[in-house]
Amino acid sequence: MKDHFTTVIIIRDALIVGNLKLAKWNASFLAKHESDSALASWIMHVDQLRALATKVADAPSLEVATTASAELAVECGRCHAANAVTPVFPTVDRRVPASGFRPHMQRHQWAAEQMWDGLIGPSETRWNDGVAELAETPLGQDSIFTSASATPEITKLATDVHALGAEGRKATSWNERAAIYGRLLTSCAACHAAIPPATR
Ligand code: HEC
Ligand code: HEC
Repeated sequence: MKDHFTTVIIIRDALIVGNLKLAKWNASFLAKHESDSALASWIMHVDQLRALATKVADAPSLEVATTASAELAVECGRCHAANAVTPVFPTVDRRVPASGFRPHMQRHQWAAEQMWDGLIGPSETRWNDGVAELAETPLGQDSIFTSASATPEITKLATDVHALGAEGRKATSWNERAAIYGRLLTSCAACHAAIPPATR
């Protein structure tokens, strides 16, 4: 379980920075995971997990990988719920409410982590804490860039992240939440890929 947890965190964070290759490579390990129980109900969840991991490993695009990763996290949660298990996640302190670009990004990261734990738990508290963190004002284009100029696409992505937080607050089923989470990861990734490091 600990290994699973580490692997899926690597997948999530690789997707956030737009590194599809790294995400796929890690998913390929999870796709080969053997079931460690002969119980039919157990095998069903493991099979589903492997199918979703395979989908990430073979993803032809970032969107496919982000969507399947979020579905995978929900599948972890389904098995936990079925076995009445409540994994205890390490608590990471909420980020300081400082102004500026970096603290804003660090709050995004914190939100993405809480929502993710929410899917895996499953945990209503973690999910709600995460979406609440996205309720702040989107960054203005001046603070996204130090040198390059903002394209309409990038300005839209900055707003999308927060709009998805609002959608996430309204969503009640884990399937809906997974779809929103997949789109959130895509927005993080798309902006990180659109702004080349030299202009950051
Ligand atoms: C087939 C059922 C099943 C699936 C699928 C599953 N889990 Fe679990 N998980 C369990 C059970 C049962 C426990 C409690 C016993 C244990 O720790 O092994 C658990 C415990 C955990 C824990 C707590 C471990 C600890 O030491 O406190 C974490 C974290 C975890 N799972 C993460 C995940 C992640 C991430 C996934 C998806 C990639 C996942 N699990 C998929 C059944 C499952
Ligand atoms: C509108 C564009 C944009 C969006 C959307 C965006 N980011 Fe960023 N992010 C950036 C840029 C640009 C950097 C690079 C900053 C640098 O190199 O100093 C960055 C850097 C980061 C960092 C590193 C911060 C640090 O301390 O150096 C993290 C973490 C991060 N983003 C997380 C996220 C997460 C999670 C999301 C989605 C929920 C997200 N970002 C969405 C533009 C964006």
